[in-house]
Amino acid sequence: MKFFVDTANLDQIREAEGLGVLDGVTTNPSLMAKEGIEGENAILQHYKDICSIVSGDVSAEVLSTTYQEMIQEGTMLSALHPQIVVKVPCTKDGIRAIKYFTEQGIRTNCTLVFSIGQALLAAKAGATYVSPFVGRLDDISSDGVELVASIVEMYRYYGYETQVLAASIRSVQHIVECMKVGADVVTSPLSSILGLLKHPLTDSGLAQFEQAAKKMMK
Ligand code: E4P
Repeated sequence: MKFFVDTANLDQIREAEGLGVLDGVTTNPSLMAKEGIEGENAILQHYKDICSIVSGDVSAEVLSTTYQEMIQEGTMLSALHPQIVVKVPCTKDGIRAIKYFTEQGIRTNCTLVFSIGQALLAAKAGATYVSPFVGRLDDISSDGVELVASIVEMYRYYGYETQVLAASIRSVQHIVECMKVGADVVTSPLSSILGLLKHPLTDSGLAQFEQAAKKMMK
């Protein structure tokens, strides 16, 4: 399973990359705005900066919503760096744009996916990744992990190569559950990735070993 970090914060991306287990980065307009990035030049430069920190895929989301504009914007984003994956919303225009990008050899991440039907269209259009939003479904009393599981099963049944990228991750438990149902990628905040390391028995075991080490080295 691949790990992406879900942030546009350069310090957090550096810290995640420093762990040595990072496979990529996902961003979205909200995460970019949170970093105070304003204007086209600043946006493009920020994506370049992210690509210079990590060696894996970097999802850059189109801000436009119509087919022609998405084509223009996505083509420009993908030309920025070979690591860029163009992130496109799962709408009618978005699916058409993904199909166009697939034909041009441009990699895509179909985002804002909340149903198996949307995931089917994304795969048929040739998306590289599909992003079901786990946390946002849980927020409305739906089961986000169950959707991830259904998409994984459906893609395996039909042999689609689109990778299932579990997004909108809110907890360590989300990561573990998505792993159990076979997600190809999980993108999560750095805090949840680091949370995987936490176990009280690791802490108490380490404290015991440290005491023993001090005794031996006296
Ligand atoms: C990543 O690709 C998504 O845009 C992101 O995970 C959404 O997360 P949120 O639901 O916490 O905004």
